[in-house]
Amino acid sequence: MDIRSVCTASVLLLLSLSRCFLPSAGADLLEYECNNGTSYAANSTYQSNLRSLLASLAANASRSLFPPVGFTTAAVGASPDKVWGLGLCRGDTNGTDCESCLALVPDIAFGQGDYCMGVKEVSVFYDRCLVHYSFRDFLTSPDNRIVELRGAGDDNVTRDAGRFDALVVSLVGALSDWAAFNTTTRYAVGTMVSDDGFATANGAVVHRINGLVQCTPDQAPGKCRDCLQALIDEMPEAFNGSTGGHILRVWCNFRFEVFEFYDGSPMLQLVAPRPAPPPSSTVPTDQTGGNGTRWRQHAATASAIVLGVALILLSIFTILLWRNTRRELPYQEDDDPASLLFNLPTLRRATDNFAEENKLGQLVQSRQTPSCTRKFGMG
Ligand SMILES: *[C@@H]1O[C@H](CO)[C@@H](O)[C@H](O)[C@H]1NC(C)=O
Ligand SMILES: *[C@@H]1O[C@H](CO)[C@@H](O)[C@H](O)[C@H]1NC(C)=O
Ligand SMILES: *[C@@H]1O[C@H](CO)[C@@H](O)[C@H](O)[C@H]1NC(C)=O
Ligand SMILES: *[C@@H]1O[C@H](CO)[C@@H](O)[C@H](O)[C@H]1NC(C)=O
Ligand SMILES: *[C@@H]1O[C@H](CO)[C@@H](O)[C@H](O)[C@H]1NC(C)=O
Ligand SMILES: *[C@@H]1O[C@H](CO)[C@@H](O)[C@H](O)[C@H]1NC(C)=O
Ligand SMILES: *[C@@H]1O[C@H](CO)[C@@H](O)[C@H](O)[C@H]1NC(C)=O
Ligand SMILES: *[C@@H]1O[C@H](CO)[C@@H](O)[C@H](O)[C@H]1NC(C)=O
Repeated sequence: MDIRSVCTASVLLLLSLSRCFLPSAGADLLEYECNNGTSYAANSTYQSNLRSLLASLAANASRSLFPPVGFTTAAVGASPDKVWGLGLCRGDTNGTDCESCLALVPDIAFGQGDYCMGVKEVSVFYDRCLVHYSFRDFLTSPDNRIVELRGAGDDNVTRDAGRFDALVVSLVGALSDWAAFNTTTRYAVGTMVSDDGFATANGAVVHRINGLVQCTPDQAPGKCRDCLQALIDEMPEAFNGSTGGHILRVWCNFRFEVFEFYDGSPMLQLVAPRPAPPPSSTVPTDQTGGNGTRWRQHAATASAIVLGVALILLSIFTILLWRNTRRELPYQEDDDPASLLFNLPTLRRATDNFAEENKLGQLVQSRQTPSCTRKFGMG
């Protein structure tokens, strides 16, 4: 392998860079890489060859050999200044949008700032198109390991990361089958829907994962599927509960997000199986917690019953008190019986009043309610 330096920042930083310094035209910069081990001089023949190569990729994309997917390869110049290039647009991108996406690549190739000016071998991945160019003939014997760029989203599921990741893997796997064997464009998009959903660190609840896979359309089904499988094999180490991510190579790539990022309707709509009920083997690891929770639930139920009974008794008493106070106490001021039941100051005054032993005894005797006597006497 060459000494290769990755000049990518985080996806977030790049997205903001692309918004600040690059014309967006509906295409966000995902990742790029300059192979700094290789360089050409300003205004050299290589540079002018590269300029015409990039113009040719953009112009020819709308007249692709593989409609509706914009895909072109080209080579410009003669050794030692010959430059090879490949351009691919996302499968849902029409000729116009494909051309305008590819027309952004010179910003990375020659633009001001920390891009790839003066570097002979570069990969640029926008969300709608990609370009790889090199001083080497990488087209005659494609080696998909020449570049790989990854990125993860900025939010994570907070629980069940393993289950979430497994859903993403099965979505990308199903889409890879579909793109490789059931399309001529080698492009597939689809969704995985989870009824129960996943809570994320940013406070969202995710119910839908959107996925996209694509190979260059010149590949045979088996080759495309193998290309994607190599990326799928990397998913466990690349993503850990991240709500979005991508692994990008020149001949195949995939991306998943919890937001919608492609045009058109999904070709596959998968439904996540319901999560298995928590296995009993997890109880020992959390025994006191589980036991405590169960105990607390029983305690709560018991206290609710006790409280309910107490409230009923209190209501009965309040009615009894109210009748008696209306009959025997001259200072009763609230004439509305309905409000009396729920009027706390009145209630308190009434109970304070009846806390005095003598009156209490008289009252209870006069009303002849023995079951209440005991309770009242305690208060
Ligand atoms: C390259 O050409 C441009 C104009 O074509 C000129 O302004 C610039 O100075 C040249 N750079 C070098 C290093 O020759
Ligand atoms: C388009 O590609 C063909 C080769 O496939 C090339 O001959 C032609 O010059 C290209 N067109 C443009 C406008 O670059
Ligand atoms: C290409 O797609 C864009 C939307 O992505 C649409 O606005 C535009 O009209 C389309 N152009 C053609 C020629 O279909
Ligand atoms: C590689 O090139 C990029 C862009 O020219 C630059 O930002 C980066 O610092 C370079 N890295 C090294 C190790 O030279
Ligand atoms: C998500 O996880 C990544 C890697 O573990 C971490 O860098 C990032 O800060 C996390 N994001 C949130 C919102 O927790
Ligand atoms: C291809 O599509 C057919 C229906 O058109 C479907 O039965 C089959 O399962 C699909 N194959 C794959 C690999 O998805
Ligand atoms: C995944 O993330 C969780 C929590 O964010 C952490 O406990 C676990 O060690 C991580 N696993 C890997 C393989 O990074
Ligand atoms: C709950 O905890 C008690 C001790 O506090 C223990 O005797 C009992 O076996 C536990 N029950 C379960 C189901 O873990």
